[in-house]
Amino acid sequence: MEKKFLKRNIISINDFTKEEILFLMDFSKQFEGFRKPILSGKILAACFYEPSTRTKLSFESAMYQLGGNVTGFDAGSSSSAAKGESVSDTAIMMEGYSDVMVIRHPLEGTARVAGESADIPVINGGDGANQHPTQTFLDLYTILKTKKTLNGLKIGFIGDLKYGRTVHSLAEALSLFDNTLYFISPESLKMPNAILSHLSAKNKIYFETNDLYDYANELDVLYVTRIQKERFFDPLEYEKVKNAYVIDKKIITHVKPDMKILHPLPRVNEIHTSLDSTDQAEYFQQSKNGVTVRKALLSLVLGIYP
Ligand code: CP
Repeated sequence: MEKKFLKRNIISINDFTKEEILFLMDFSKQFEGFRKPILSGKILAACFYEPSTRTKLSFESAMYQLGGNVTGFDAGSSSSAAKGESVSDTAIMMEGYSDVMVIRHPLEGTARVAGESADIPVINGGDGANQHPTQTFLDLYTILKTKKTLNGLKIGFIGDLKYGRTVHSLAEALSLFDNTLYFISPESLKMPNAILSHLSAKNKIYFETNDLYDYANELDVLYVTRIQKERFFDPLEYEKVKNAYVIDKKIITHVKPDMKILHPLPRVNEIHTSLDSTDQAEYFQQSKNGVTVRKALLSLVLGIYP
């Protein structure tokens, strides 16, 4: 199975089979706390045209923990993108400067363009409202670690389901397994029809509502997302929904004791800090799991194993 990841572009969760995902989950375990220079001499290019804390820094940390090095840029404005250089040309350049590239870009499809241009593995660190596959891998890893299974779960998604690339990727990935999904959002931020159609075509069970408390007591996992101001064309539309859901300690009396709350972060105010110390709060550990899973991915695409 390792060979299936060798030199592979990681662009969309839909490019992966259930078996490949389960292999990655298992392969990642050995990277918990693992720090050995197996990638000594290798270079990661981190090309971020959009802000990031977790994705960029956890990829960089993963590379450093495995003895590799990092180059790249933090914002399109600090690279020659500001002079009009295309993503395709940038990717070709990175081929000469690095062994693997991670790219984040506001436009959907950009990571695939980079992957088709460069002769090194290209990893999508988030392309617009489309996909965020490595976030999904770490989300699945977190669910598996806390619930011991990826099947038979009741998983709620709440917040911006229209523009949220993390919920798009995760819902698609979970459709490879047998779970019941609950999509909780304002009417204007519902899960896109394309994803609902995929779920229906696979006979997956899902429910839609705008009220968290319709299903809160049934959930095993609640995946909370930020209402993303930067994705709205009309600021007035953002103002209408920005505080649609603010989850605080009140939820604890309505949920199962072992229900876990995940969030890809950053949060704004959709999860009150009073929840951070509860048994339900899993989001900071989830973010830390990103380093583990990204070390595993770097090892696999470069074909150098512990
Ligand atoms: N979860 C996530 O993608 O966070 P960043 O935007 O900080 O990378």
